[in-house]
Amino acid sequence: MKNITVIGAGTMGNGIAHVFAQYGFNVLLVDVVQSSLEKGLQTIAKNMERQVAKSALTEEEKTLALGRLKTSTDLTTAVSSADLVIEAATENSQLKLDIFSKMDAAAPAHCILASNTSSISITKIASATKRPDKVIGMHFMNPVPVMKLVEVIRGYSTSDETTRAVIDLSIALKKVPVEVNDYPGFVANRILMPMINEAIYTLYEGVAGVEEIDAVMKLGMGHPMGPLRLADFIGLDVCLAILRVMYEGFGNSKYAPCPLLINMVAAGKLGDKTGEGFYTVSRETKEVRISPAFV
Ligand code: CAA
Repeated sequence: MKNITVIGAGTMGNGIAHVFAQYGFNVLLVDVVQSSLEKGLQTIAKNMERQVAKSALTEEEKTLALGRLKTSTDLTTAVSSADLVIEAATENSQLKLDIFSKMDAAAPAHCILASNTSSISITKIASATKRPDKVIGMHFMNPVPVMKLVEVIRGYSTSDETTRAVIDLSIALKKVPVEVNDYPGFVANRILMPMINEAIYTLYEGVAGVEEIDAVMKLGMGHPMGPLRLADFIGLDVCLAILRVMYEGFGNSKYAPCPLLINMVAAGKLGDKTGEGFYTVSRETKEVRISPAFV
């Protein structure tokens, strides 16, 4: 595999494009909006600069990696010579079905169609194509250049050959692939999201404050971020969407999203991406403080 097309230049898409370019693949980054592509490329350059400063990458490797990145706003032509496409668009099931149907029509027959979805069924996504054996989940974690895991999700019809290819590809990116089956939330979010939701319930019921809840999990369990800080980092809208997929998919009330989470999303307090969630993050200084609503 040489030619990788990444759909979506947001946080996950630019992180995925970053690691593929870093490890020698030709990458075509696609988004509907030109300014998102420019922002994505700037983020990749900034994160590679950070790696150079930490001696994780040489200046020459950075220049070569950036040279392997190209951009496009046209999905159809962008997949026409791809060996693997990885979709990292917004978590919206209809949007993903549309993208996969278009990619299936335009991509070469050998091309694997992967999704970075955090919770939408791979089997359902595959149903929009005529190649369900070549559709698979390749779920990276944020920040992509740092986190080692790739959750490799086999849909109902995903072939052994496709799974093997994606496992080998993950290893080529110096990641650790873990193979799982296609059920709501897969493994990562099935375990992570109930913990985050429970942390929000703990705050909502007044058991403890934001700082105290996060301190318990950081200092007591060795988590790098507390669950409320992590929820802000992931995006509260993303957490809510994943919990809803699990609530609906299992029909089990244990996945019911906390009313406080629902309210915060309705109020547009989505965490780091809007500058306010459980914490506020200053755009200029990046300083993190407890949000006024929770002081
Ligand atoms: N690109 C490149 N390098 C980056 C980076 C980026 N975007 N972000 C951080 N880094 C590097 C830093 O340069 C630093 O490198 P060194 O170890 O060589 O010094 C290292 O990562 C640690 O970063 P910092 O020192 O700036 O900060 P930190 O020690 O507080 O770590 C963190 C930051 C890595 C994000 C850490 O807090 C962490 O691991 N948090 C948990 C993240 C997590 O759980 N992610 C999964 C979220 S769930 C998900 O993504 C899936 C989903 O479907 C919702």
